[in-house]
Amino acid sequence: MIETVIILMRVVQVVSLTLGVFLILFILLLCFYLIRGHVPWVPTNDGQARALLRLAGLRKGERVLDLGCGDGRILIVAAHDFEADGIGYDINLALLFVARLRAFKAGVSRRIQLRRGDLFRIPIPKADVVALYLYERVNEQLLPRLREALPRGTRVVTRVFPIPSLTPKVTQTYEHEMQYLYEL
Ligand SMILES: C[S@@+](CC[C@H](N)C(=O)[O-])C[C@H]1O[C@@H](n2cnc3c(N)ncnc32)[C@H](O)[C@@H]1O
Repeated sequence: MIETVIILMRVVQVVSLTLGVFLILFILLLCFYLIRGHVPWVPTNDGQARALLRLAGLRKGERVLDLGCGDGRILIVAAHDFEADGIGYDINLALLFVARLRAFKAGVSRRIQLRRGDLFRIPIPKADVVALYLYERVNEQLLPRLREALPRGTRVVTRVFPIPSLTPKVTQTYEHEMQYLYEL
């Protein structure tokens, strides 16, 4: 009896130690990429994502590209509510791990591709709609790459931060924030 209790305590000890190490590594990874990335992770909520994708006029079967996708919220809403496909890139491995878990939980894993990459180095894939939640300066730096890779007329939606050198086609306010629709 005492031996069983000792073995159980050892198992609990090993499991909690492993979980603790995993958690510390996860937090370190998050912090590392917070410093390395161009924009810190601030998540979009589901309502904001839905409003943004509605502004983009996203239709069933279209493809959304989220550059700096974080934990995948915009893509998950696109797949779940609009039956669209999604592709997202983020520099942060820890966030991509969470994004995969969230997509699985929402039952949309098959619709969403999540890839690690620096948005200034990756080849920009084809998409009908590009969703951005980055700083103004980063949007502006990205613009030539988007123009080069995507056909004219591709819709680009941004939250809060505009693309300074482009005139938006439509703007809207949602929960006190500005959202912008552009066409390349
Ligand atoms: C403001 S968050 C937006 C996250 C997500 N799009 C959303 O709306 O919930 C910006 C994201 O860009 C990512 N990021 C910053 N610099 C990056 C870079 N150079 N390449 C790829 N992703 C980057 C960050 O890791 C972060 O997840």
